[in-house]
Amino acid sequence: SGHTFPHPSGRRRWMKDAASMDPDRPVQYILEHHRGLGPIFEIVVFGQKFVFVTDAELAAELNDESRFAKANSPALDGLRGIAGDGLFTAYNEEPNWQLAHDLLVPAFTKQAMQRYHPVMAETLDELFAVWDAGDGRIDVSSDMTRLTLETIGRTGFSTPFGSFTTSEVHPFVSAMVTALTLGRRKGVIAALPAARLLERRLDRKHADQLDYVRTFLDDIVAGRRRTGSEGSDDLLGIMLDQAHPETGERLSDENIRYQILTFLVAGHETTSGALSFASYYLVRHPDVLAKAQAETDAILGDDPDATPSYEQVARFRYLRKVLDESLRLWPTAPGYARTPRQTTLLGGRWTMTPDDWALVFLPLVQRDPKVWGEDAEAFDPERPRPRLAGTAKPFGTGERACIGRQFAVHEATMALARILHRYDIAGDPSYALRIDERLTLMPEGMEITLTRRTPSV
Ligand code: HEM
Repeated sequence: SGHTFPHPSGRRRWMKDAASMDPDRPVQYILEHHRGLGPIFEIVVFGQKFVFVTDAELAAELNDESRFAKANSPALDGLRGIAGDGLFTAYNEEPNWQLAHDLLVPAFTKQAMQRYHPVMAETLDELFAVWDAGDGRIDVSSDMTRLTLETIGRTGFSTPFGSFTTSEVHPFVSAMVTALTLGRRKGVIAALPAARLLERRLDRKHADQLDYVRTFLDDIVAGRRRTGSEGSDDLLGIMLDQAHPETGERLSDENIRYQILTFLVAGHETTSGALSFASYYLVRHPDVLAKAQAETDAILGDDPDATPSYEQVARFRYLRKVLDESLRLWPTAPGYARTPRQTTLLGGRWTMTPDDWALVFLPLVQRDPKVWGEDAEAFDPERPRPRLAGTAKPFGTGERACIGRQFAVHEATMALARILHRYDIAGDPSYALRIDERLTLMPEGMEITLTRRTPSV
């Protein structure tokens, strides 16, 4: 394999990397310790080399699809045990990737979004009903997670999760988080001599949770097969009923289970994190909040219960900038891996072979002062876009970029618009941002207070 990249300690393959790197908060660890490590560096964790790119110009180069393609990082490969060759974890050349991609692209067209829109709006109304019945103090991340899980469950699978009728998170969510954390751990230890033994021990320890996830997915498929899905054009209906228009191929039952899990996971945590970070910045920046609220009043009018139409959601330009700026500073999927199609020189300097991969480490790439200016760390929704293209990619890049991007943006923009139109929101000034790292980044322990706005007469 190719180059050995600069290493933080100056020494190579130093097991201490693994010990000093906080396994519960690797992203924040790197954010705190990257200074002086340069635009590209490697860390060795349990015998596996992780290469990080933190420089916007190198990232733009890695985004070039003619030279580079998606790579599966060890953490992603660790998820193959539960997500198999589902869209997110599939290898580029795996036939099921192309098949599922071609079948599911129609589920993310504008027409499809127009079908989801009323379901999204209804789900939001149910969350508001819960809020109105409460004392006005909410835990932002947990309520945003209820909203986004419920939304993907209903729009994608016609499966409500009952998120608004209980204060507990749905057992599927906790089982899934366990399964995912387990997967990531397995990916990281894969190169150890005792990996198989450790993996089996981990599997045994979490057997109940893994079984629960499996049964839950089987039930979703069996339930739809029982009730019949003729004419149903949600994600599940497409997967169960449709054949590839050219090859006539269909997805196997096994692959459908992988896709359901993939969409339930990819379809909610990242969006919920994005909504939570945006809320954090809104309450911290009264000027931004006022401007965003004024925009909602201008578009939605006097009635705090007004629901935007599908077309109106695209008009919240300022709110959209708030969301983009939040995702610049805290990309909730903090990176993606790239590998060269052929041996090449990165930055005219570092040899990479097709066996190498590098992680585009978004929290630093999207704060690179060379591209974003000296105030790169500041939250400013109206900052000019940088001249160098392709340096803010919170949804990934190329043909393996996020298939759910429009879904996420539509859902999040409508949610923020309606929240600000319906409530005055205030944060706790003493709250210091704490970030939970699971598979994604999520603010933790953040409360806001909601006060119902009254129609202005
Ligand atoms: C892929 C981010 C919402 C489904 C990706 C990738 C990123 C990403 C960075 C590329 C990963 C890689 O290159 O390895 C996000 C963010 C979201 C979001 C930040 C919200 C703010 C969604 C939603 C869905 C979804 C709502 C589904 C409804 C997927 C799928 C893939 C993917 C299936 C794999 C695509 C493929 O390789 O064919 N996402 N995502 N995501 N995302 Fe999203």
